[in-house]
Amino acid sequence: MTVLRPTQALADARANANAASYEQLRAELQAARDASDLGGGARALELHRSRGKLTARERIGALCDPGTPFLEIGQLAGHGVYDDAVPSGGIVVGVGIVSGRACMVMANDATVKGGSYYPITIKKQLRAQAIARENALPCLYLVDSGGAYLPMQEDIFPDEHHFGRIFRNIAEMSSMGLTQISAVMGSCTAGGAYIPAMSDETVIVQGAGTIFLGGPQLVQAATGEIVDAQRLGGAHVHTAKSGVADHFAQDDLHALSLVRQIVGRSAAPKLAPPPLAPRAPLHDPEELTRIINANPKDPISATEVLARLLDGSEFVPYRERYGASLLCGTGAIGGYPIGVLINDGVLFSESAQKAANFIELCCQTQVPLLFLHNISGFMVGESYEAGGIAKDGAKMVNAVATARVPKFSIVIGGSYGAGNFAMCGRAFGPRLMAMWPNARTSVMGGEQAAKVLELVRQDQLARQGQQATPEELDAIRQPTLERYDRNGRPLYAAARLWVDAVVDPARTREWLTLGLAMAAASPPEATRFGVFRM
Ligand code: COA
Repeated sequence: MTVLRPTQALADARANANAASYEQLRAELQAARDASDLGGGARALELHRSRGKLTARERIGALCDPGTPFLEIGQLAGHGVYDDAVPSGGIVVGVGIVSGRACMVMANDATVKGGSYYPITIKKQLRAQAIARENALPCLYLVDSGGAYLPMQEDIFPDEHHFGRIFRNIAEMSSMGLTQISAVMGSCTAGGAYIPAMSDETVIVQGAGTIFLGGPQLVQAATGEIVDAQRLGGAHVHTAKSGVADHFAQDDLHALSLVRQIVGRSAAPKLAPPPLAPRAPLHDPEELTRIINANPKDPISATEVLARLLDGSEFVPYRERYGASLLCGTGAIGGYPIGVLINDGVLFSESAQKAANFIELCCQTQVPLLFLHNISGFMVGESYEAGGIAKDGAKMVNAVATARVPKFSIVIGGSYGAGNFAMCGRAFGPRLMAMWPNARTSVMGGEQAAKVLELVRQDQLARQGQQATPEELDAIRQPTLERYDRNGRPLYAAARLWVDAVVDPARTREWLTLGLAMAAASPPEATRFGVFRM
């Protein structure tokens, strides 16, 4: 075991410049988070409160055990995605502790366009359900929604991963024994009615909650019948006549206490304490803001990062002297053992082979994996291709894809091209994925992409016996650079749910500890790897 000893200066001009640059990123991020937390704005909020309703975030606060942390997923979803503001994607989602159990909580925000579902709302709820399924969490739906956002129906209704998938997931998770509970605290119309109707148990709030396949307007249009929302599908109807809901609640707080009681009676296991005593690192994680280089192109030292992330700054390196551009080894975070892979340079054949072996070992011993991306990609060039770097990289990608231990992925620097795949990018199913505010991700760097496109154009013109003018090349280069810079940033990625969160370096341990605690409740799975090309 090694106690990691950082050596990078923390008070010189470079460290000060790093800290100043990081503060700017932190401020930008905080502004985006504050906007998300405000929901649909003052007017909608006032109307919401005048109806005696709590906000989505207040509901979650009252539902969860007092003083427990909430692991929010997709707080920045929807940020700048549409012409309309859709703060938090119109639904607040995360893992909370309810009656001692880790639960996936999904609360529509009715102050955002009546809580109706934009494409990002669907994507976020499906992501929440996927996390719940993988980690065997009960699902708690706090429903207050106008259903499909009608102007965009073609982007939310017909396809495989659209609205219907939410209801299919409820049915499948219920059949797997994962408790599905709804509290109807507002509107629940058309397809949305299937959320409570398909749940295992449903609570409805008198005066506020309604469930119907067709609302009053539709009924009048279809049959001429005039009926108000409460008579059509309120709490009295559904608890006394239809049996669509099980429990009658006086108000929001009463409904949430009923949900807490249902979770308390469920078969879901209570959260267990971590297997080891949690210990702080010997070096303050806040110092990471002085380590992260102001220039995103400069690499970040792996040892400096690990010394500030791992319990006691303790690390058991695996093959320390071999394939040294990728550090592999075990440690603990928040008392949970973890196998860490962190880049310290480009990936070579040796580092990729070492990673595949290390992942095999972690799967044998059921140790979760943490990937810390800081990677421009695999080494390129004639001798490396001839040495079979493609097949060695494929071994690593194969091991990452098929490992059945919980995987966590954080982009701490760059994450480009095949390096992203090898380090368990989104497509490889990490249980949670985050970026640091300084991080960047794209298929390749903007400079490289611009160069490739310029060369392609030059080749095309050369075939016609012509040459590109500098202006013509610049017209390719500048927009490419701008697009890559804008679209590779954490806010852009988080707004589209390519990652679950943007996490401050200093809060990364806390975030990972919650994730590891969540994953610890799910039953261990055996890994079966595919064919490794030797
Ligand atoms: N699609 C698009 N926009 C919707 C919407 C939907 N399904 N439901 C509500 N909205 C919008 C409203 O147009 C309004 O937008 P605005 O602020 O730009 O004017 C905003 O959401 C708030 O709606 P409003 O009716 O003023 O709020 P409310 O709290 O009084 O009522 C509902 C909320 C959800 C009960 C009501 O809007 C409603 O009945 N919506 C239609 C529900 C429906 O039939 N859905 C079918 C889906 S398949």
